[in-house]
Amino acid sequence: MLDVAATGPLIDVRSISKLFQTGEETVHALRDITFGISQGEFVSLLGPSGCGKTTLMMIMVGLTSANTGEARIGGRRIDEPFTDVGIVFQTPELLDWRTAQENVLLQIEIRRLPVRNYIERARALLAQVGLEGFENKLPFELSGGMKQRVALCRALIHDPEILLMDEPFGALDALTRDQMNLDLQRIWLEKRKTAVFVTHSIDEAVFLSDRIIVMTPRPGAIAEIIKVDLPRPRTLDQKDAPEFSAFTKHIRKRFMDLGVLKDG
Ligand SMILES: Nc1ncnc2c1ncn2[C@@H]1O[C@H](COP(=O)(O)OP(=O)(O)O)[C@@H](O)[C@H]1O
Ligand SMILES: [Mg+2]
Repeated sequence: MLDVAATGPLIDVRSISKLFQTGEETVHALRDITFGISQGEFVSLLGPSGCGKTTLMMIMVGLTSANTGEARIGGRRIDEPFTDVGIVFQTPELLDWRTAQENVLLQIEIRRLPVRNYIERARALLAQVGLEGFENKLPFELSGGMKQRVALCRALIHDPEILLMDEPFGALDALTRDQMNLDLQRIWLEKRKTAVFVTHSIDEAVFLSDRIIVMTPRPGAIAEIIKVDLPRPRTLDQKDAPEFSAFTKHIRKRFMDLGVLKDG
């Protein structure tokens, strides 16, 4: 268990900047990013493509280094990969020759944990995301949404402290995406993992988040941090309510001001 002071944030990002040097070219990816995320909080990083969302997420868990600033988890400075984490990527990245359940258990094998102790948990997780009866299916037998559900189970099987999701539903059709948002909310409400969710969908960020970190175009900086105090569980119907659209309108306006969105 991590030692988190009652008042301190679980994840603490301080003055992070990042430059990529490729040959002659220098890309300034992130500029002076500072924020904290509390234990059990659901926070989205929302910003245009290329603004550094993935890079920031990777720096938070020590998979990429920053040029300046530091990331801390549970008060400890991250200078090597932090492993008490589950990550869901934009594409499911399942192994074609392994069943749904075997793909979930891959996480356990890689961590050299005793697989037999996790089989029941894998089945329970798959059932929780609506995949009961699909445990023994191979990836080619599953839809895009189902594969992403398997990826979510794989990210949760070892009961990590932190769940990172990098545009996990970006490749799914709109209806499947709505369903995934509902399912993710339900699972998050059950497990209360500290969750960091990368998206460029304003709607999705408002629906899922406790707070939204709105980022500027590259070099990515924080434009605004928005607290979404809508009650949970949130429903799809709520998206039409004025309380919900007040948030989406506000963010859309912010992106207009930043030149990310343009009228006509
Ligand atoms: N390993 C890398 N080498 C060089 N440039 C990179 C590398 N990773 C990312 N970048 C650049 O940094 C910027 C931010 O990338 P990224 O974090 O992937 O943005 P986002 O996830 O918001 O789309 C982009 O311009 C991207 O091309
Ligand atoms: Mg990205």
